[in-house]
Amino acid sequence: MTETVLLVGGGGREHAVARALDASDADLYACAGNRNPGIAALAEGFDTLETTNPQAVVSYAEDVGATLAVVGPEGPLAAGVADALDDAGIYAFGPQEAEARIETDKAYQRRFMREYEIPGCPDFATFDEMEAACEYIDDYDGDLAVKPAGLTGGKGVRVIGDQVTTEEAKDYLRDSDYDRVVLEERLVGEEFTVQAFVANGDLRVTPAVQDHKRAYEGDEGPNTGGMGSYNDAALELPFMGEAAYREAVAVLEATVDALDGYKGVLYGQFMLTADGVKVVEFNARFGDPEAMNTLPVLNTDLLDVLVAAREGDFLPELSVAPKATVCKYAVPEGYPTDPKAGAKVEIDPENAGDALLFYASVDEREDGIYTTTSRAFAVVGVADTITEAEEIAEDALAVAGEEGLDVRHDIGKPELVQQRIDHVAALRGE
Ligand code: AMP
Ligand code: GLY
Repeated sequence: MTETVLLVGGGGREHAVARALDASDADLYACAGNRNPGIAALAEGFDTLETTNPQAVVSYAEDVGATLAVVGPEGPLAAGVADALDDAGIYAFGPQEAEARIETDKAYQRRFMREYEIPGCPDFATFDEMEAACEYIDDYDGDLAVKPAGLTGGKGVRVIGDQVTTEEAKDYLRDSDYDRVVLEERLVGEEFTVQAFVANGDLRVTPAVQDHKRAYEGDEGPNTGGMGSYNDAALELPFMGEAAYREAVAVLEATVDALDGYKGVLYGQFMLTADGVKVVEFNARFGDPEAMNTLPVLNTDLLDVLVAAREGDFLPELSVAPKATVCKYAVPEGYPTDPKAGAKVEIDPENAGDALLFYASVDEREDGIYTTTSRAFAVVGVADTITEAEEIAEDALAVAGEEGLDVRHDIGKPELVQQRIDHVAALRGE
C-alpha cells in the first residue's frame, strides 16, 4: 500500500524531511504557515494554513487521505496537533501535547529528570515569582542560567557570566512577563546534539551534531534558532570521544524508559563539561538546522521508520553513511534583532553546485524568491571530511551572493573546529 504522508511545517528542517520522504514510496502532502518552495516542489499538494490550529491540520489531512503525519516544529506539538491527528485515526510521528512538555515546559523537564534520576541534570530551582528568583540569584554561589519555562524559539535564555551580569539577569526577570522561570547551574563546555527516533518504547540514535546558536562569527551576538551545524563521518564530533557520545545515548535511553508512550523524535541538547555530559535541554522534534545534517546521511528509508512506529513494531536499525556534513544558514541582514526582509534569493537547487539547498522562511513571488524576517535558506555540503563539506557549502553560498544576507562563514572551518577541540582539552586540564 502506498502511504500518504502529511508533513506539518515549512522550515529548513521540514524541507529536509520532505527530501528524505521523496526518496521513499510515499505520496507527500504538506502544510505550513508559509509556502516553502522547496517543499512545494516535492509535494503533490501544499496548503498554507495555521499549523497551530489542530482542526485546520486534521481537516487538510483528511482531505488528502493521509495515512501518516510528521509534525516538524514545536508550536503545533504544543498546540496538540499530534493528539488531534491521532484522534482522527491518522498516526502522527510527533509526541502528543502532554509528552511534548519535555520541550515545551522547562520546569517540568527538570523535575522529570530529577524524579526519574536521569543522569546529567544540573542543579536547578523553579520560580513563579520573579522577586523570589532574583533573591535566589543573589544568594547563589556561582553563575546561573536564567530560562523561561515556556517556548521562546531558543531566544529566551540568559547565561550569567557569559551573556549578562547578575544585575542584568535580575533586570531581565523584572522587566519580563514570564509566569515561570528555571534557574540552573551554568554549564561550561562544548554543546552537541543527539537526535533519536522513538516509538513503542524503543529508540534509534543518529550521529552527534554541533549547532551554532550565536548570530555572529566567533560565537558573538545574540542567540538565534541556530545559524548552522556540522557533523563528522563518525558518531562523535572531533572534540569528543566515543565515550561522551555513549554517555549522551545513555541519557536518551533513560529518558525514553521513563517517558510512557512517547513517539517522534527526541532531541537531546548536551554539554560536554569537565564533569562529563550534562543535559542543556530536550526537544520533542528534529533540530533545525540539525535535521539537515542528519537526514541527508540516513540510508535507511525514513518511511520504513514511520510505518514501523505506527504499526507498533521495533524500529529498523539505522544505516547512516559515514559522511561529514556542514550546514550554513543564510539569514536576512540584521537577524535576529533587526532583520530586514525583501532581499532576492539568487540560489536555487539547479545552481547550488554539489551542495544541497534547503529553503526555510522565504516568500515566493511571481518574479522570484525573497527573504522574510527569519532564517531564509541553508546549504549543506556532504563529504568525507568536515573541511571538504565546508568548502562545498561555501561554493554554493558564493552563487547566492551576500546581498541582503548574513552568513556565519566560520561554521565548519578548520580554525573553529580546532578551537572546540582546544576548549575541551583546556577544560580537562590537558
Ligand atoms: P535552550 O533554549 O534551553 O536551548 O537554551 C539556549 C542556549 O542557552 C543553549 O543552547 C545554551 O547555549 C544556553 N544554555 C541553556 N542552559 C544552559 C546552562 N545551564 N548553562 C549554560 N548555558 C546554557
Ligand atoms: N537547533 C536548535 C533547535 O532546533 O532547537
